[in-house]
Amino acid sequence: MSSVPSRAQPAPSEFDYRALVEPTRVHSTLYYDEAVFAEELERIWHRTWVYVGHVSEVPNRNDYVTKSIGPTPVLLVHDRHGEISLLQNKCPHRGNQLCAYQQGNRSTFTCPYHSWTFANSGELIGLAFADGYEGVDKSAFSLGRVPRIEIYRGFVFGSFAKEGPSLEEHLGGAKDSLDQLLDNSPTGEIEVTAGFLQHRAKANWKFLVENETDGYHPGFVHGSIFQVAESPVGGLYKPESQALTRDFGNGHTEFDLRPEWRRMGKPLHWFGGADPNRFPGYVSSMESAHGVERAREIMIDGTPHIMIFPNLFIAEIQMFVIQPTAVDETIQHVTALQFKGAPDLNRRLRQQTMGSVGPAGLLLADDTEMYERNHRGARIHNPEWLTLSRGLSREHRDDRGYRIGHATDEVPQRGIWRHYLDLMTA
Ligand code: FES
Ligand SMILES: [Fe+2]
Repeated sequence: MSSVPSRAQPAPSEFDYRALVEPTRVHSTLYYDEAVFAEELERIWHRTWVYVGHVSEVPNRNDYVTKSIGPTPVLLVHDRHGEISLLQNKCPHRGNQLCAYQQGNRSTFTCPYHSWTFANSGELIGLAFADGYEGVDKSAFSLGRVPRIEIYRGFVFGSFAKEGPSLEEHLGGAKDSLDQLLDNSPTGEIEVTAGFLQHRAKANWKFLVENETDGYHPGFVHGSIFQVAESPVGGLYKPESQALTRDFGNGHTEFDLRPEWRRMGKPLHWFGGADPNRFPGYVSSMESAHGVERAREIMIDGTPHIMIFPNLFIAEIQMFVIQPTAVDETIQHVTALQFKGAPDLNRRLRQQTMGSVGPAGLLLADDTEMYERNHRGARIHNPEWLTLSRGLSREHRDDRGYRIGHATDEVPQRGIWRHYLDLMTA
């Protein structure tokens, strides 16, 4: 049926995952065992939909960027025929890395090893010293392709499984959060043009995914930045907060801040308490695009805080792309979101991103320290089980049927593990 790069079907599992994931607790082994990680690559990263990149990274014909699906490198290409596609970054001759650059514009790729040349649509078009290859059928040596690619409003996802749920089915209710994000752009589009920073954490990828919608930790781990920045954000993570945690299913989870922003009722308050008068261009374009009343509602609600399983995290003003490279190493690729047609807001989005998750940023350094301590802790054998029971008795369903809980509850983490168990035992 479906395929992974290494073999057609996953081998039978070495593990009884049902004995390692319970509704409110998880066995530590799942975070550090190399064999578990190898099975996750086959059953999750090389099977499900994974976010790869954004169309605004390859706006022109022949643009490309090097990306990844889990640890596997791929090329996101706007090819010579105008198609957006995902190619494997591997030369079919002897397997060399075909393209070593992060991005560029070219209609062909030439392998640095023996100079085979490929069209950016994948076909082998030139062999160096072709006289040794008489009678060879060039069409047998095209670049590998990621078999499925789908794009939702500019967000490009790939899947190594030839068959499976469509991207829309996979996203489910999480799609609405991407729509919410795009509503905040006067043109309905974002641009991923601010450049990526890469943060390496010596920790298992699941600690990062779980933490992205963990509303229990920020008041403690990030207390200093909230204080220094005099940000209203700290109040969202207090026991009296009306913000919600939500489980959309399929591993997608959200920290829904709208109840708090609506209670405060101030446009752009979500943006670090920003004063709308400082962004006259943005406000007037939003009003022209949506009408004054709707623009005000959108600017009160702000952008989402959503973790799209397994690797796309939209954190209000930033995009994080999570890439596992080993059982104990994960790279977070981080960029400032930019709204097409909003230069005044974009400038502040970049500045605020540098302050929170830049090289000397105050936010991600705190989280990374927690990830790495978590990972070291997972290897200690007693106690073996980690608990995710917070808010179980007050968990309930919203009017769309999604599980929700208090801002500090572990609704998202239970949802992530429910989906994990489904994938690992499918
Ligand atoms: S490995 Fe690419 S041309 Fe030989
Ligand atoms: Fe955090």
